[in-house]
Amino acid sequence: MASPTTAQLSARQRRVRQALDDLTLDALVVTGAANIRYLSNHAGSAGILVLTRESAHLLVDFRYREAVAMLQASPAACPDLRVRDVPASYDEALLACLEELGVATVGFEAAHVTVAKHEWWRRNLEGRRTAIALRPTERAVEQARVIKDAAELATLREAARRIRPVADAAIRAAAEGVSERHLAGIIESAMRDQGYERTAFDTIVASGPHSALPHYRAGDRRLAAGDLVVLDFGGVLDGYCCDLTRTVAIGPPSAEARRLYTAVYDAQQAAIAAVRPGVETSAVDAAARGVLEDRGLGAAFGHGTGHGLGLDVHEEPRITRPRPDVPSVPLQPGMVFTIEPGAYLAGFGGVRIEDDVLVTETGCDVLTDVPRELLSL
Ligand code: GLY
Ligand code: MN
Ligand code: MN
Repeated sequence: MASPTTAQLSARQRRVRQALDDLTLDALVVTGAANIRYLSNHAGSAGILVLTRESAHLLVDFRYREAVAMLQASPAACPDLRVRDVPASYDEALLACLEELGVATVGFEAAHVTVAKHEWWRRNLEGRRTAIALRPTERAVEQARVIKDAAELATLREAARRIRPVADAAIRAAAEGVSERHLAGIIESAMRDQGYERTAFDTIVASGPHSALPHYRAGDRRLAAGDLVVLDFGGVLDGYCCDLTRTVAIGPPSAEARRLYTAVYDAQQAAIAAVRPGVETSAVDAAARGVLEDRGLGAAFGHGTGHGLGLDVHEEPRITRPRPDVPSVPLQPGMVFTIEPGAYLAGFGGVRIEDDVLVTETGCDVLTDVPRELLSL
């Protein structure tokens, strides 16, 4: 996959500079790793990006000096980037950089700075020749990331396409007597074979009663006849995540297992059918939740219907009931998120079905192409 080009990075930076204008900030200190990558293509585990109205400054230490030099010599170079060496402390280098730039009002990412770090910055800015005021910002970069650009969509489509053979391998290997952990290993090995650089989260293989625990992982239990098994896995390709869940039955499923499965299947179909531009995220959630409530399973569905996917496996938009901290927003073309309703009955088991969708001009494309009917293995 090709990295975002210099022109694509310029367009991203323009959108964030608009936020700087709106907030009357002279600069934004970007410390969120995914946000740094989004704006610069620097994908290291350390680094700080300072974005001013006119320039971009990447602070990196010795470990990344050569990697950044190679990036800057490539077609994926970050436009007009000034690379600054961090000889010892990132915090000292940052304050020196801000002072040198002569910026007076500087935003920082409140979600990506610890209270301790902020305190250190504040104390060490006191008494400098020029006063620098720090201002917390929220979602300055995340807001731009909600609508995926062409480079992101190409990678997200490919990340979703490659999950099909992984699901096939999981289904081939799921059988009575196989342990959850062994099956998780097969799934993760198949992801590596497909070229994913890592898993997007801890693989979930939840069998029998464990399937009623939405965020169980994988343990020593062996799959047994009559189990429902929730398989939830995803990989990261060139930084971008995919996320898929299928639920299978070991041996013939009981009538109750079928009832649960059909309810979740219908809920997922209803939510997918609701996705189109202008529809609120809360309405997509309500479409899934309404089906489960009508079947008497409202209380069995205690999580949101989905979440955005991109450089982070959980990002905006959140497909949930409106909450004080997560307002409902209208869908727009270019948003990518999961649709993953579930129903969980403690002591019995649970079902979740999860796919990744892209909002188009007229509806949505389901990016993950894996059969959805209940399989009896
Ligand atoms: N297992 C994480 C998720 O599906 O969101
Ligand atoms: Mn998942
Ligand atoms: Mn998910």
